[in-house]
Amino acid sequence: MDIFSISLWFFVISGFGIFAGSYFDAMWLPTKRANYDRIAKLSQLKPGMVFYDIGSGSANMLFYLSKKYNADCVGIEIAPFWYLYSKIKSLFYKKVKIKYGNFYKYNLSSADVVYAFLLPKNYSKIKNKTDKELKMGAKLVLSSWPFENSKPIKIDVEGTLTAYYLYINT
Ligand SMILES: C[S@@+](CC[C@H](N)C(=O)[O-])C[C@H]1O[C@@H](n2cnc3c(N)ncnc32)[C@H](O)[C@@H]1O
Repeated sequence: MDIFSISLWFFVISGFGIFAGSYFDAMWLPTKRANYDRIAKLSQLKPGMVFYDIGSGSANMLFYLSKKYNADCVGIEIAPFWYLYSKIKSLFYKKVKIKYGNFYKYNLSSADVVYAFLLPKNYSKIKNKTDKELKMGAKLVLSSWPFENSKPIKIDVEGTLTAYYLYINT
């Protein structure tokens, strides 16, 4: 194999490892660090609460929330690179668990808060899942886009481009 083919394979494989989520519900794009506390405040995150990030990417927000709010954090990630990165990092964080695969295959009934930063094209599927699985009173925070036909309980816009939408399962 020549150097061109090797580089091409390298880019294809690393691209898949990082951006595999594009084939599912969103490609990787991290939540800004400056917004972590906004999400915690909106969901009234407290010690011992179970916080899920469905499509957790690098899971950097989970590492932060587990330390600052003493929350039990769970990330589910389908892109192999981000799964491995966050899984290895989670070995140093007692309160963060990282799971591999499609989050539709995982049950979310233990969650107190579910966070999703995904594309809105599949939001009706996500709504069906969370309506079915979340316990009463559990919260769902959506980044950037609300559900089409469901009014959020609260919206945090804070003068920035990213809005966060809070739903509570009743
Ligand atoms: C926009 S990024 C958000 C990353 C992280 N939640 C954050 O806020 O920093 C979306 C992530 O979801 C992952 N993803 C997309 N669809 C998924 C699915 N069906 N199951 C698991 N992960 C998925 C992507 O690989 C990507 O890392």
